[in-house]
Amino acid sequence: MKEKTKFFCKECGNETHKWFGQCPACGNWNTIVEAPAVSASSKQKSGAAKAASGAALRNRPRPITELDSQEELRFSTGIGELDRVLGGGAVIGSMVLFGGAPGIGKSTLLLQICGLLRGQKILYVTGEESARQLKLRAQRLGVERDAIYVLAETNLDNVLASIDDLAPDVVIIDSIQTMFNGDLSSGPGSVTQVKDCTMALMQTAKAGGFTCFVVGHINKDGAIAGPKVLEHMVDCVLYFEGDRAMSYRILRAAKNRFGSTNEIGVFEMADKGLVEVPNPSEMLLSGRPKNCPGNCVACVMEGSRPILAEIQALVAPAGFSGARRNTNGLDYNRTMLLLAVLDKRGGISLSGCDAYVNVIGGLELDEPAADLATVLAIASSAKERAIGADTAAIGEVGLTGEVRSVSNVSQRLTEVARLGFKRCVIPAHLRGEVKTPEGLQLIPVRNIREAIDAVLV
Ligand code: TYD
Ligand code: MG
Repeated sequence: MKEKTKFFCKECGNETHKWFGQCPACGNWNTIVEAPAVSASSKQKSGAAKAASGAALRNRPRPITELDSQEELRFSTGIGELDRVLGGGAVIGSMVLFGGAPGIGKSTLLLQICGLLRGQKILYVTGEESARQLKLRAQRLGVERDAIYVLAETNLDNVLASIDDLAPDVVIIDSIQTMFNGDLSSGPGSVTQVKDCTMALMQTAKAGGFTCFVVGHINKDGAIAGPKVLEHMVDCVLYFEGDRAMSYRILRAAKNRFGSTNEIGVFEMADKGLVEVPNPSEMLLSGRPKNCPGNCVACVMEGSRPILAEIQALVAPAGFSGARRNTNGLDYNRTMLLLAVLDKRGGISLSGCDAYVNVIGGLELDEPAADLATVLAIASSAKERAIGADTAAIGEVGLTGEVRSVSNVSQRLTEVARLGFKRCVIPAHLRGEVKTPEGLQLIPVRNIREAIDAVLV
């Protein structure tokens, strides 16, 4: 039988039956490349690959009532913040993709996990660093155990063969973009290669029952480089974020088949690797300027955890080229809306003013509960009056300037009180519903004008 050749788009991964000058899916020119079909014999080079092809293990359909409904088996990675983001530990046989900018600490985190997993055999496949470089880093991090095997290899077949020989419990691939299947004509990192290598590893992991942590590079837009199908294939996609210039790192789940995607993990990069930060609010508020105009503290829920963050605003007369507006860590359009509400309903004229709004610590706030603090920070800068350093604000702001209630208020207030705040502005409807934590004075407000009058006298 004649072998069929396939064609792929290098940009979007679209598969076509013939060559096109322009990809019919994404519209890019000269991106369609030929990918020869993999012959059956080459697919079965290693035992692992054979198992992966599915020929050896054929599953039969079974009635859903007869299926095993046991909870998936998990193990702790030894890093509490990572376990939290994974939904309570890593699931055996799952595949987790770690994305993040270069130098953010992906390799460091995975190497630290190696040192913490007791009684498990680990295979660390490094396609980027040499085995010696990895050893030096491991020594620096104090990671040394017999059960950690290192393989400096980029050929997928050799990796699968080593997995077959070693039968590890955990496999780490650093990174998927360096792996290649010699049967395909395209180079490492191309869409076809990344897709093929992920698929082969995924099937081997499911068949062999080991957990696979995979590092993925990100492209200039911050998404994992390669086709979107990569994210569809794996069980969890975690992104490591943070400003490289600052030592704080935030781990966030973009997809999780075994847990919620709301939880975040917070780390600090120290000289002995990543250190967990169990109290992110304290970290985010450290070094806060006291009694300075343009600051207000918000409380947002990150998954099940309330986190306090400082919002800073600077309002200044605009130059001749018109008013400039900029946000960092807040949604731009939402902030523009709040500026308009403040102008129209809060009695503070902002036309002809530049406005810059920042969240300190590299956190991205996407919850409306931060609205009131944003509005107060801007008002504070515009009026050149400071909000007391012991004051926080919680509430969503509507288009008529009303302050609306938010969820989980008791939990938020407890965190506000725990961090030593004395006053908290809250939506007036909630007055009767919440228990006031000891030492905290609640300031109920119905609209932003009342809020401004209460804290900016
Ligand atoms: P790395 O894990 O190599 O990043 P990635 O794999 O995501 O590209 O992180 C390297 C950075 O971390 C590098 O800039 C140095 C810093 N670092 C420390 O500050 N302390 C440490 O103990 C280690 C190992 C790295
Ligand atoms: Mg690395």
